[in-house]
Amino acid sequence: MTWYKIAESAAELFPDGPDKLAELEAGGKDICVAMVKGKIKACAYQCPHAGARMSFGYLDALGNIVCPLHRYKFSMENGRNVSGEGYFLKTYAIKEREDGIFLGIEEKKGLFR
Ligand code: FES
Repeated sequence: MTWYKIAESAAELFPDGPDKLAELEAGGKDICVAMVKGKIKACAYQCPHAGARMSFGYLDALGNIVCPLHRYKFSMENGRNVSGEGYFLKTYAIKEREDGIFLGIEEKKGLFR
């Protein structure tokens, strides 16, 4: 796992407020971030259903991310499609430390490396 520093603080990540979704780039990937129950969570920026930008969606009362296009819901904890359509949203590990906020991306293990 490679860790990328994505911000100094939550305030830097969410300049429009902690209840808003945000988007950033880390390790060559576009990432959607959200503050869920006081913790920063990260997922792929594209919906696995039809590719909508998850950062244009919103969080429901339970802290699930809701896609802006067809309103499928996903857990930001594990990517589970909690509204039951059978998709899976990629999620990323986050470390909140005194020296900043870091996002972990698994390296691809190719057969010929
Ligand atoms: S594109 Fe996200 S639910 Fe359809």
